[in-house]
Amino acid sequence: MDTEGTDVLVTLEGIDGSGKSTLHAALRDLLADLDPLMTREPGATWVGEQVRRAVKEQIDPVTEATLFVADHAAHLAKVVRPALAEGRLVISDRYSDSRYAYQSVTLQGIVPEPEKWLRAMHNGWTIIPDRTFLCVLPVDDALTRLKPDAQREHFEKREILEKVQNNYLAYARAEPGRFVVVDAMLSPEIVAGFVADAIRLDLSSGKRKRKK
Ligand code: TYD
Repeated sequence: MDTEGTDVLVTLEGIDGSGKSTLHAALRDLLADLDPLMTREPGATWVGEQVRRAVKEQIDPVTEATLFVADHAAHLAKVVRPALAEGRLVISDRYSDSRYAYQSVTLQGIVPEPEKWLRAMHNGWTIIPDRTFLCVLPVDDALTRLKPDAQREHFEKREILEKVQNNYLAYARAEPGRFVVVDAMLSPEIVAGFVADAIRLDLSSGKRKRKK
């Protein structure tokens, strides 16, 4: 396939334990002929190390949220924008929807209308993905795939992940043209094959070219 000017941003979203990192790794192989730029949030730049530290130390929810936004800004500036400008296909394991879904929960009662606040922080400079695959599964099944309780990040609790997944599902309902909901209970091979085919279809349809 001719990949010149592919210029498409694909994101993978879902709660912890939904298998999106496994999916991301499988797509690297399945789409190797397209030479995709595989990236992630947090952690595509050194800002990610600060995010991980803030999460680990549970320093403060606003600090944590704004560091996630800083990580996104650096990711856009240093990785995503340059790759799209070169006409590359970019596939990111987590992106802005992670902030809207998770930090809306962690900032509840701390910031008035957290989701509005988070979206306002992104509006005008972020790049909205062309396609977002949302991996969905029962929260109990996701929890069984995670590390033991003591080693989990503070997000990885049933009551939080239930709210996070409900947020994601609401976004998918609100933007059916961008989101594709994927059944994460299917085998990793079936999920990866389906998503890889869907990405190829988007590219060949040519509908998702970014306006320069
Ligand atoms: P991630 O690195 O994807 O998880 P894993 O440890 O499984 O590799 O993300 C780390 C955690 O950060 C995860 O629990 C989700 C959370 N997160 C947010 O709360 N907000 C965000 O904006 C992002 C990108 C991640």
